Formats: sequence, structure tokens, C-alpha cells
Amino acid sequence: MDQPRFVISAAEAESMAQSLGLPSVLHLLPALVQPAQELARPPISNYHVGAVGLGSDGRVFLGVNLEFPGFPLNQSVHAEQFLLTNLAVHRCPGIVALAVSAAPCGHCRQFLQELRNSSSLQLLITSEHPNLSPSALNQNLENSLPFKPLSEFLTSPFGPSDLLAEDSPLLLETHQNGLSLIGGEDDIHQSAENHAISRNGVTKGFDLDGEHKNLSNGFCHDSGKKDALLRIAALEAANLSHAPYSNCPSGVALMDCEGKVYRGSYIESAAYNPSLPPVQAALVGYIAGGGGGYERIVAAVLVEKVGAKVTHEDIARLFVKKISPKCEFRVFHCHSI
Ligand SMILES: *[C@@H]1O[C@H](CO)[C@@H](O)[C@H](O)[C@H]1NC(C)=O
Ligand SMILES: *[C@@H]1O[C@H](CO)[C@@H](O)[C@H](O)[C@H]1NC(C)=O
Ligand SMILES: *[C@@H]1O[C@H](CO)[C@@H](O)[C@H](O)[C@H]1NC(C)=O
Ligand SMILES: *[C@@H]1O[C@H](CO)[C@@H](O)[C@H](O)[C@H]1NC(C)=O
Ligand SMILES: [Zn+2]
Repeated sequence: MDQPRFVISAAEAESMAQSLGLPSVLHLLPALVQPAQELARPPISNYHVGAVGLGSDGRVFLGVNLEFPGFPLNQSVHAEQFLLTNLAVHRCPGIVALAVSAAPCGHCRQFLQELRNSSSLQLLITSEHPNLSPSALNQNLENSLPFKPLSEFLTSPFGPSDLLAEDSPLLLETHQNGLSLIGGEDDIHQSAENHAISRNGVTKGFDLDGEHKNLSNGFCHDSGKKDALLRIAALEAANLSHAPYSNCPSGVALMDCEGKVYRGSYIESAAYNPSLPPVQAALVGYIAGGGGGYERIVAAVLVEKVGAKVTHEDIARLFVKKISPKCEFRVFHCHSI
């Protein structure tokens, strides 16, 4: 199979399934796990994990594990977390099923609780079914695929329903944190009109003053428009952040040396520790959006609430510095409107 991208459109997923002789897109999930594993970035363990999920809108999303030398292991991103963040970055409203290369760890079983009706999410572990090669898959009828509900992996779960009201929006569900930057956004709205941030999470190399400026690493000429774009992208990510437990939403926007903007939203877990910090979420946006080596990231903006009890500023600064030493890092504060 060709190098898969991290997001596959519904139509393309259908035709991939057809061309492989598979009876449904559900069968495509296990078939894409191994190609997904090849995209993992685990320089510490060299243990490649791939996860492939079917979104409720028919798109197929990939997730991989990420590890960061020089940082505690708890800064790693697991493939299942990457997968859900990839859906969130691309505004997919739900996930139906996922296939993953190895049994999800306890931390991921917990993280998956943030989804509505998480107990019925269907999971398939490909390492437990080595017979599921594409040729074997096309013999299988849909019903006989060995998917099992998340409730079988985590019995007696602790989750959002223990802490939140029934109608509180969960991960991937539409919500707006209603944030506004302190100091005003006039300059931002002006630039936003000219450079609408695309809804797929990536802004293609945009124009600055009508000409394409190729920012080179470490020599980001400070342009007001570049800053404004990153700020609005980070604010938008913070607006979409799933932080119902602390009420401290935040978001990060990154710019690469070609001027592309990527972003990601902080995602909290009811169990706190498995929460995914906003820089990691933005790196998911970066990798899923085709970003290469981290050293190509030249600017990063974090937006979080002023006086927040949960703040990412210090760790995010260290983290960004480590993965891309010449990257410029800025923080802007916001408040609820
Ligand atoms: C995770 O790492 C941070 C440093 O990056 C550390 O302060 C924190 O205590 C760690 N948390 C856990 C649960 O190990
Ligand atoms: C969640 O489950 C309830 C009860 O089975 C159902 O009514 C509802 O439509 C489900 N919601 C989603 C988003 O699947
Ligand atoms: C953030 O949310 C508020 C309230 O809904 C909205 O007014 C503002 O335009 C949003 N900002 C961005 C950048 O999405
Ligand atoms: C920007 O610069 C990089 C590094 O010099 C180069 O590889 C890339 O092709 C350039 N991109 C554009 C759009 O000029
Ligand atoms: Zn895990």
C-alpha cells in the first residue's frame, strides 16, 4: 500500500476498500494499521504503534506514537491520543471504530472515556489477529471482524459522567469556550479577513504583504501579520479546547519555515494525568498536516487564560526549545467573554 496520509476522505476510503477487494471501510481500518506504524516517531523505545479510526463522517484518520528525547516519558503521545487529536484538529464530530497495532494501555483506555458513548466505541487489536492480512480480510464478512466495545477493555470506568453535567459537551462535540485575547484583537480580525484559517487545521503558505516570505529557521523577521495569524490560530484552538475539568482551555499554533500554520487544542481527561498538553496537540496537527522534522518549526504561540490554575507556559517553553532550538515562543493571555 502507498504511504498513507493522516486523513483520508470518505470517498477515497471507499475506493481504497474497493480496490483492495474489502467489503467495507471498516475492513480498511486493520489493513491500514501496519502502514500507519511506519509513520510513528518513537526514538526512545523504537516501538511503533499505529491506530486507525473511522470518523462518524466517513473519513478515516491515522494516529501514531511520538516520543521526545530529553523529556520525561510522560510528555510522550500515544497513538490513540494522536488519533483522537487528529479527529479534533480536523473537526470530525465523532469516532465509530478504531483498529490499533497493540492492546491500548490503561492510560489510553482512560483517555478514550472523554468521548460520548465511549463504552460502545469499537476496538480491534491487530496483533491479536495476525491472520487479518488484506487478503484474509476480504474473506471476512463485516460482522465477523473481531471488534470489541471499549467497555470490555475498561470495566467500571471513571469518566466525564462522574464530574460533569450530562449535557456538557465532550471531546469532539461542538463547543465554543468563548475566549477573547486580552489587549484586543483588532489587528487580528483584520488579518483574519485576508487569511481565513482553513477548517482542516492547516493554513497553506499564506501571503504576507502580498508576497510570499520564506521564513528561515532562526531568522523569523518579526512581521506583525505573522504574529497576528499565529495568535488567532492559537486563540481559535483554545476556543475549541476540551478543558471542562479545570476550565483552563488553551491552544497552540506553530509555523514552519515555509509559513504554514498548524494548531492544536489542549485536551483534558477526567483522570487529569492522561490529559494531552496543547504543544503536543499542535504537533499532532503539524505531523498530520504533512510537517517534517521538528526543527522546521520556526514560531510557536500559546494562548491560555490569564491567571489560569492550569498553565502550560513553562513546560511548553522548555519543550519547544528542545524540539526546535531556534523556534521563537510567545504566550498570549485570554479571558472568557
Ligand atoms: C510529567 O512531567 C513533568 C515535567 O515535564 C513533571 O513535572 C510531572 O511531575 C510529570 N508528571 C508525572 C505524573 O509524572
Ligand atoms: C449515545 O447513546 C445514546 C443511548 O444509547 C443514544 O441515544 C445517542 O444517540 C448516542 N449518541 C451518540 C452521539 O452516538
Ligand atoms: C472565540 O470565541 C468567541 C466566542 O464565541 C468568538 O467571539 C471569537 O471570535 C472566537 N475566536 C476565534 C479566533 O475563534
Ligand atoms: C523555503 O525555504 C526552504 C529552506 O531553504 C526550502 O526548502 C523551501 O523550498 C522554501 N519554500 C518556498 C515555498 O520557497
Ligand atoms: Zn496508550
